Amino acid sequence: MRQRLLRIGASELKYEIRGIVEKAEKIKANGQEILWENIGDPIQKNCQVPEWMKDTIKDLLSQNDTYGYSHSKGVPETRKFLAEKTNRLNGVQITFEDILFFNGLGDAISKIYDYILPTSRIIGPSPAYSTHSSAEAAHANHEPITYKLDPKNNWYPDLDDLYNKIKYNPSIVGILIINPDNPTGMVYPETTLKKIVEIAQEFDLFLISDEIYQNITYNNSKVKTLAEVIGKVPGIAMKGISKEFPWPGARCGWTEFYNRGADADFNMLCQTLENAKMIEVCSTKLPQLAIPRIMLDERYPEFRISLNNKIGKRSDELTNLLGDIDEIYFNPTYGAFYNTIVFKEGVLNNHQTMEVQNEQNKLILDEWINQPSLEADSRFVYYLLAAKGVCVVPISSFCSDLQGFRVTLLEEDEVLFAETFKRIREGIIEYVGS
Ligand SMILES: Cc1ncc(COP(=O)(O)O)c(C=O)c1O
Repeated sequence: MRQRLLRIGASELKYEIRGIVEKAEKIKANGQEILWENIGDPIQKNCQVPEWMKDTIKDLLSQNDTYGYSHSKGVPETRKFLAEKTNRLNGVQITFEDILFFNGLGDAISKIYDYILPTSRIIGPSPAYSTHSSAEAAHANHEPITYKLDPKNNWYPDLDDLYNKIKYNPSIVGILIINPDNPTGMVYPETTLKKIVEIAQEFDLFLISDEIYQNITYNNSKVKTLAEVIGKVPGIAMKGISKEFPWPGARCGWTEFYNRGADADFNMLCQTLENAKMIEVCSTKLPQLAIPRIMLDERYPEFRISLNNKIGKRSDELTNLLGDIDEIYFNPTYGAFYNTIVFKEGVLNNHQTMEVQNEQNKLILDEWINQPSLEADSRFVYYLLAAKGVCVVPISSFCSDLQGFRVTLLEEDEVLFAETFKRIREGIIEYVGS
């Protein structure tokens, strides 16, 4: 090209959750059946959308108005419904004008960071859901700035680390919280959230809270939302239906702007996001129309409770299967539908193996593990794929220097779930003992 084409930040866009699929497909092509544990898509893991929910959507499809554009910020009745829901929490109060719809929360995530000055940074958790950390790093043309989630303390945020990083880095303008968390399955305690709000207040920062899993909690856990603890601090809550209904293919999520009036710059960020959506015209309309109809249906709460109970049961089963392995840090989960398993320091090395039966896959694996500067957890993950046919995601690809991997708690088929985690258990024991 006549001029350089890409900005430096472009190289920060990585998404191993889908990247690992390419590798798994190669293993599969040689006849190895694959148990997919890489992506948080309940539908892919055999979750059935109930017939009454499908009927609600069919009804909408028979109405002519469904086929037009919506208001650029989203369907007003749906935004009013959602604003009232938030206001009933008795925390921060909003109107429907504070709600903006996107084509999935992924769309909201990439837009939010895009319009912030590259030199102004948002600190996020590590490990992190990589859509956030990649988009933030791409906007800054620099690697992400992170605070630690601590596997030795239930994956709770290390608040001293967060405080010190913010204190000594004046470029930080905001804090990202993911609650319940992807990839750890942790639910932030209220006291932790309040401390994070205090830190934001002390340093004049705004907050972003990704709450896409807000209604997916189990085993006696409940989420405190940002709306309930934020007080007068400016903030953005991010919500969606991909996981909750679940309807990831709808590409529908929304942001709620809290305390817009508290800061002129923050208000301009909200306005800019609204303008960006206006230029695009609007977001997907059908799922927006469906939201109040589905959430107000009396069958909805019991449907969600039953799914949550099943995830909670699988979380317990995972604890039974992996909780006693000495070489890993294992934390039972309470929200979302993931678990991140971390190898203890010094456990992994470059000589460990698992037995691979298929000769062609042995050759492929050899090529993968001989790449220069391969992370130790990627090496384990490639072995697990080639030897046991289980596809998980290395935790080093979640913006973390820990060594481990993420699994999901989504498999609805009990036999398949037990088989998957039996193979993972055997894989860990064989690899670390080799
Ligand atoms: C924490 C978190 N935020 C956002 C998203 C993206 O959701 P959507 O399907 O609405 O783009 C995901 C998807 O896995 C997620 O885990």
